[in-house]
Amino acid sequence: MRILVTGAAGFVGSHVVAAFAADRNALTSLDLVLPAVTAVERGADGAVAPASRAAAGSNTPVTADVRDAEAVAAALQGVDLVCHQAAMVGLGTGFADAPEYVSRNDLGTAVLLAQMAAAGVRRLVLASSMVIYGEGRYECPLHGLRRPLPRQVADLAAGRFEPGCPDCGAPMLTGLVGEDAPADPRNVYAATKLAQEHLAASWARVTGGTVAALRYHNVYGPRMPVDTPYAGVAAIFRSALARGEAPRVFEDGGQLRDFVHVRDVARANVVAARWAARAAAGTFRAFNVGSGTPHTVGEIAAALSRTLAGPPPAVTGEYRLGDVRHIVASSERLRNELAWSPQVSFTDGIAEFAGLTAPARAT
Ligand code: UD1
Repeated sequence: MRILVTGAAGFVGSHVVAAFAADRNALTSLDLVLPAVTAVERGADGAVAPASRAAAGSNTPVTADVRDAEAVAAALQGVDLVCHQAAMVGLGTGFADAPEYVSRNDLGTAVLLAQMAAAGVRRLVLASSMVIYGEGRYECPLHGLRRPLPRQVADLAAGRFEPGCPDCGAPMLTGLVGEDAPADPRNVYAATKLAQEHLAASWARVTGGTVAALRYHNVYGPRMPVDTPYAGVAAIFRSALARGEAPRVFEDGGQLRDFVHVRDVARANVVAARWAARAAAGTFRAFNVGSGTPHTVGEIAAALSRTLAGPPPAVTGEYRLGDVRHIVASSERLRNELAWSPQVSFTDGIAEFAGLTAPARAT
């Protein structure tokens, strides 16, 4: 296939490009190449180059904004499938970011889909996110499955981080979220990722296209962006340790996440593309992408501190209102239907991420 990868110079996109190239696809890679979020590789000579340029295979790089209809139309020529990674991620710096998130993520996706419709490109792999679920799956011992209410400042300020049952306030057990769980986006970024899915589903219905929406868990690994307000917690912790400081763990450190390695996420894109090429016209299907081995944020901080022989984590009790407490997904659908399984263990991934080992397997 000829595949157009948007966001190809970014953290995840650069690995996706490499994985598609290794799978012998021809590529067109489109990216705005924003300095703050361009994934860089440092060569043996110390030179830094956008990772997409380093990707093997027949790769035609295009520097353009995904909202630029003309540039997108040109990039779509001869393309069989689009893998849409371009997005603005993270919680951002405040509500003032909202127009920028909506513009880059939703207007961008709408422009892309309109151009795909016009060009007759009918296959899409969409980088979606677990954030669309909001809080994870919770069960009250008395009332069964319950959705936690929005987090209250008074609770968080008093160190009550665990959501109680909305009916009786009892502590709830957290479990794995499946793809059919209702969406409940709890911040602007989450709302824009869900809107992307809805736009893609509408596009599939109208054009007879096929969409695989990959709901990524917390992705980490080489080329993760650092020192931006949009960096994930693993990169923030690693940067603190590199400065000789303790990683600052918010809340009580007990919040659960699933840290999935970026090369496993890239391989999920490859199997999803193959699925999209054979799925029935008009199909939209979501797939969670997680390692299946959840960890608390406190655990990832401790693992990085240990691996880098740095100061132990400082649990600060700070909180961000847009954060959810626990979110852990089941990736059984991806495993069963697309024969995907994660290859990079948490221990190996963290050692590599900390810079102690070379990648176990090149992509
Ligand atoms: C992350 C991704 C998001 C993705 C989602 C999927 C980023 C920035 N966000 O969101 O794009 O869609 O996973 O599940 O990559 N924390 C600390 N100390 C810090 C910063 C954060 O303890 O200095 C805590 C936060 O309070 C939170 C947890 O770490 O509980 C994770 O935060 P973050 O990395 O921003 O990721 P998510 O919000 O899970």
